[in-house]
Amino acid sequence: MNYPNLPEDCTSLLCKYLTKEVFEELKDKKTTNGFTLEQAINSGLVNLDSGIGVYAGDEESYSLFAPLFDAIIEDYHGFGREDKHQSNLNPDDLNAPNPDPNGEFIVSTRIRVGRNVAHFPLGPAISKEQRDLVESSIVEALKSLSGELEGRYYPLLGMSKEVQEELIKDHFLFKEGDRFLDAAGLNRDWSEGRGIYHNKEKTFLVWVNEEDQLRIISMQKGGDITEVFNRLVTAVKAIETKVAFSYSEHLGYISSCPTNLGTAMRASVHIALPNLAKDMEAFKAITDKYYLQIRGIHGEHSQSEGGVYDISNRRRLGITEVQAVQDMYDGVVALIKAEKELTK
Ligand code: ADP
Ligand code: ARG
Repeated sequence: MNYPNLPEDCTSLLCKYLTKEVFEELKDKKTTNGFTLEQAINSGLVNLDSGIGVYAGDEESYSLFAPLFDAIIEDYHGFGREDKHQSNLNPDDLNAPNPDPNGEFIVSTRIRVGRNVAHFPLGPAISKEQRDLVESSIVEALKSLSGELEGRYYPLLGMSKEVQEELIKDHFLFKEGDRFLDAAGLNRDWSEGRGIYHNKEKTFLVWVNEEDQLRIISMQKGGDITEVFNRLVTAVKAIETKVAFSYSEHLGYISSCPTNLGTAMRASVHIALPNLAKDMEAFKAITDKYYLQIRGIHGEHSQSEGGVYDISNRRRLGITEVQAVQDMYDGVVALIKAEKELTK
């Protein structure tokens, strides 16, 4: 492969940090799983409108291709090469009483973490056989869950289109055919090895073999963030007794996209802010101050509908899980205050 043509107007972190020198240094390297620089950067080259543009094929990608990944990680998370990540999943340390007890603004709350199974390649480099093995070991582990977490696994293969679409529309299931994942090699052999586990109430869900091997999700209507966090922590700890997750002292939980490293946590609310939405500058000033990200209500790369937004923490690495949720909580309190003032 030759140094790619990176257009002047490309704003992704890949375009920013893949200098000719970095490219020359890394272009012939291969991880133990056979993952190359060419594969790591393909998504960003095919999708020049990417925000980031790179994916890791395994934990080793982060060290072998460090001249590229470290720069991207530092830019996105403000996390340095010598820094150490710290985890804190202790619900007692969270201070997040319901910011909207009358249910005027918050439609629903969702907290997810990404996890990958130790000693396996990540999705971009995994073989079909390995992926199937990951699926069966996760499904086996989920069978041991009890009480509120008890549920069933529904493989994508054989699921009717109607059921699949309904689950997507209701915000429970991942979408299909994402072009960023596609170019990263994450959609190979679709839909084999993929599926969703959930309890009866759909307040606890696990996505299997999408962007990460597990996406563990706790969600419910309304703004009781503490309850959602507690359920998530109980589930993560229970699953961890059965499946070893890929974790490094430096980078925390290992994920296929560098934005998810560390806590791999995205804590979000769907929140109605129709007045604030009329002044995007004021809206963004608040979300920037609290390190928040604004998404549309059908997830990443979707649009808002009826003034309802998906507001979540943007930082994931170098802060604890408790801090990630606290970022979201503090920001949501400020957003509700601003919306109320505009409504007067
Ligand atoms: P991820 O959260 O895994 O990074 P997405 O942004 O694509 O991925 O969101 C996945 C799904 O979760 C989407 O259907 C999205 O609308 C839904 N979702 C996210 N936050 C909430 C929330 N607070 N309430 C209800 N659904 C949500
Ligand atoms: N690869 C896409 C981009 O660079 C998504 C990055 C973050 N989102 C994610 N789901 N990992 O824009």
